[in-house]
Amino acid sequence: NDELFKNVISHAKEYGFVFPSSEIYDGLSAVYDYGQLGAELKNNIKTYWWKAMVQLNENIVGIDSAIFMHPKIWKASGHVDGFNDPMIDNKDSKKRYRADQLIEDKITRYQKDGKTEKANKLQADLDNALNKDDLGSLKAIIEEHNIVCSISGTKNWTEVRQFNLMFSTQMGAMAEGSDEVYLRPETAQGIFVNFLNVQKTGRMKIPFGIAQIGKAFRNEVIARQFIMRMREFEQMEMQFFVRPGTELEWYNKWKETRLKWHLALKPDQSKYRYHDHVKLAHYANAAVDIEYDFPFGFKEVEGIHSRTDFDLSQHQQFSGKKLQYFDPEVNQNYIPYVIETSIGLDRMFLTTLCNAYEEEDLSTPEKADSRSVLHLHPALAPIKAAIFPLTKKDGLPEKAREIMDALKMDYNLIYEEKDAIGKRYRRQDAIGTPICITVDHQSLQDNTVTIRHRDSMEQERVAIADLERILEGIVGW
Ligand code: GAP
Repeated sequence: NDELFKNVISHAKEYGFVFPSSEIYDGLSAVYDYGQLGAELKNNIKTYWWKAMVQLNENIVGIDSAIFMHPKIWKASGHVDGFNDPMIDNKDSKKRYRADQLIEDKITRYQKDGKTEKANKLQADLDNALNKDDLGSLKAIIEEHNIVCSISGTKNWTEVRQFNLMFSTQMGAMAEGSDEVYLRPETAQGIFVNFLNVQKTGRMKIPFGIAQIGKAFRNEVIARQFIMRMREFEQMEMQFFVRPGTELEWYNKWKETRLKWHLALKPDQSKYRYHDHVKLAHYANAAVDIEYDFPFGFKEVEGIHSRTDFDLSQHQQFSGKKLQYFDPEVNQNYIPYVIETSIGLDRMFLTTLCNAYEEEDLSTPEKADSRSVLHLHPALAPIKAAIFPLTKKDGLPEKAREIMDALKMDYNLIYEEKDAIGKRYRRQDAIGTPICITVDHQSLQDNTVTIRHRDSMEQERVAIADLERILEGIVGW
């Protein structure tokens, strides 16, 4: 599986999906750039989410709030005081680690070595220490289990300290005299502080939701696993405002709805599972993760949280502005309760790549053969169709261009005339293009072309006049 993950990462780079940020300067840790195909795939994932959440639900609207927000927001939300990771330094190597991650790695090691009992006991001790925010115990565990620094191999550790994950920067002259502002660590707060603006101007009636897609920033102590844990990433979040007392009903509905969204892309269904939170954040009364079985194991892709009235109450208190809703049905003013769905766009991107990637063995008894293929859902594919003239002469390129011009306003297409046709097919397989359209000499006579399908590799002859309808049938939502 390590091998598989390495292949996915190098495939993503080789074909222009994801590059390390600032690569010619040796990169910037946990920051990545999306290349020409990555940007398309990312946009298609966003569109799929936006359609499912905003367009298909009459009672959900979308906003786009600023990354910079008033610093008091992060005090109210609890991020200034509580958005921390426990961190420990190795004195010899001067390398910094997340204390809980070091212990998690040890648990994995025990599991790999078949020491199940030891692994379970260590997991329980870790959970216990984290639940109590007991930094001393984390240090004690690290010492007791002889955890060494991966660089220097020494066990010369500092104390465990809390490390706040928010990035801060300076903004010109703030009213209060303080000019420190944060880069938002989640998009959700931009929704909470706009709750009344949207409710009033959009004349929204509870239950209703506000959705948004945007960047978030976290100064993650450890950067690992490619785009799984980044310092700059994107979230797609929706806050659903409901009448108090109805929140668990809505929580269950969103829990189901969100898993269906993932499964509608027709992935291997056994790779998805729920992970209910046993220990809840102080403001939540239910929480679940949707986990995907990455090559490195089941990990969270999306969280669904019943956040009670915590955030709106906090903002009401800190801002001194009423954040209540008058519910005509029960003739009452109240602060709504909130169900949140929160998915990392980059993590969804990685899930999509892992699901789609295959090194397919095409060997026959006569000949060894294989291909790299991305079995992307056609609606997510960066390029919807490739158009090939069979040769570079006899008017075939002109005919191919004609077809391309007629379709390119509605579909992202690619035109390719270099290399043998087989090689051109393989290149499109590797980037997940659902169909290739080949123009040959017969096309000039009868206005037909050959369509070759990515997954089945089957070919069929169709009329040029039918291409638009065929394409829509394959790649349409
Ligand atoms: N508003 C709730 C919230 O932010 P979270 O569990 O901290 O909850 C939600 O984050 C989602 O954002 C996660 O499920 C994950 O997909 C994504 N995410 C969080 N931190 C990330 C990081 N450092 N890099 C990439 N994605 C991240």
